[in-house]
Amino acid sequence: MTGQPRSAVSADGRTFELVSGRATAAGDVLVVATAGAGSVLVQATEPTGGVVLGLVPEQAGSRLVTEVEPFDESPALDATEDDLAVLQRVTGADLPIGAWASGNGGAAALLRSSGFNRHTFLCGQSGSGKTYALGVVLEQILLGTGLRMAILDPNADFVRLREPLPGADPAAAAAIAAADIRVLGSVPPEEPLRMRFATMPRQAQAAVLQLDPLADRDEYNLFLHTFVPEPGSQSGDVDGLVTGLLRGGEDERALAQRIENLGLPEWDVWAMELPSASEIVSSGARVTVLDLAGFHDPRESSAVCLDLVESLWAERHQRTPTLIVIDEAHNLCPAEPSGSIQERLVERLVQIAAEGRKYGLWLLLSTQRPSKVHPQVLSQCDNLMLMRMNSPADVAEVAGIFGFAPPAMVAAAPYFRQGEAVMAGRFVPCPMRVRMGTRLTVEGGSDVAVPGAGAVS
Ligand SMILES: Nc1ncnc2c1ncn2[C@@H]1O[C@H](COP(=O)(O)OP(=O)(O)OP(=O)(O)O)[C@@H](O)[C@H]1O
Ligand SMILES: [Mg+2]
Repeated sequence: MTGQPRSAVSADGRTFELVSGRATAAGDVLVVATAGAGSVLVQATEPTGGVVLGLVPEQAGSRLVTEVEPFDESPALDATEDDLAVLQRVTGADLPIGAWASGNGGAAALLRSSGFNRHTFLCGQSGSGKTYALGVVLEQILLGTGLRMAILDPNADFVRLREPLPGADPAAAAAIAAADIRVLGSVPPEEPLRMRFATMPRQAQAAVLQLDPLADRDEYNLFLHTFVPEPGSQSGDVDGLVTGLLRGGEDERALAQRIENLGLPEWDVWAMELPSASEIVSSGARVTVLDLAGFHDPRESSAVCLDLVESLWAERHQRTPTLIVIDEAHNLCPAEPSGSIQERLVERLVQIAAEGRKYGLWLLLSTQRPSKVHPQVLSQCDNLMLMRMNSPADVAEVAGIFGFAPPAMVAAAPYFRQGEAVMAGRFVPCPMRVRMGTRLTVEGGSDVAVPGAGAVS
């Protein structure tokens, strides 16, 4: 194709081909001025063609008409900023997250908040800007929806989500400052991050005790019959369990030994008289950040997440729309879980991925490589946010799993700069190339700088 004006043709009203003019970049939106079918919005999914999106809406308030007649060769121009804005408006895109790049221009990029009633997967290599981008998205969900959020935060990246940056828009800053955002962690000044053993389901308790129903048949059975948790009681935590067991016979004392040998009484995570993380989430907090860094025993952070996820699942019939955000998801939802707590947690997350949607439990997972996250969770994600990714194998895997993202857009991932992303799925009007906007609140953790020569002793 040459430098002459572009023209496009559609034989079926659903796809189009460019028949003259420059090739396009995958993702570009064009407007085709047809003789009979009106002005048609199309999107290139490859350099010489793509899909028909619908008719350019005549009134900004109307919906996108996707029934389009086939059209003969007609002039095709880059969609203007207005065209892109109208497309977003009529498809309910309402959360500003940065800039949408299309053709030589673009427009503000908006996500459809209604599209978060699906699971979302965010991936990109280390330093591509995932955590930063996640912050931008979560801030906008906070401002633009009423969605409850629980953020499982392994690196304390979101512990300052309550603190607007000095230059942030004053109205947004005031709304964030007024929101009920609870930040829980293992060390002050954060509120204590705790879990309650007594109110966990039986199998989850057994997972914490590393009891296997078959391999540890006798102990498991004894546990089932001796420890009857009293819901709401604070004495039902592990200390109380050990005290009770030590008063019993030989078998009971053996179970007590197991608990002591596992070091569970030394864990800091037991709630006792304090509220547990899941109780704080259930009490109506708008956003609960679980800062998982800083526990002495890594099992404590998995266990507190298990308690939360079990509780959200147990309360699923209340249908409280909840976004469960998991940064570094390969830690909590790995493809190959190890240890009984992680196995149980992954089992529940797989269940939420498969069945959570109808109860309003939605996942937003972020990780560096798709293969590190459990495949049965990945395959349930209907929204994709892909940032820079160098590895051809990882890019190919993303393209294979998320078939709704045009392969040519995914293939560009090795060339993205920090903060650039491709977004596809229910939460966008059409697949978009986006440059993320700036955060409104303070980032928590950040990359550690190499000290200057004078600082090295
Ligand atoms: N869009 C952006 N604008 C400004 N700074 C950014 C942007 N994206 C990322 N950064 C900065 O780059 C650094 C790395 O970004 P980030 O922590 O988001 O990467 P990541 O993809 O989460 O990496 P990892 O996988 O190692 O966690 C951070 O210090 C962050 O502040
Ligand atoms: Mg990160």
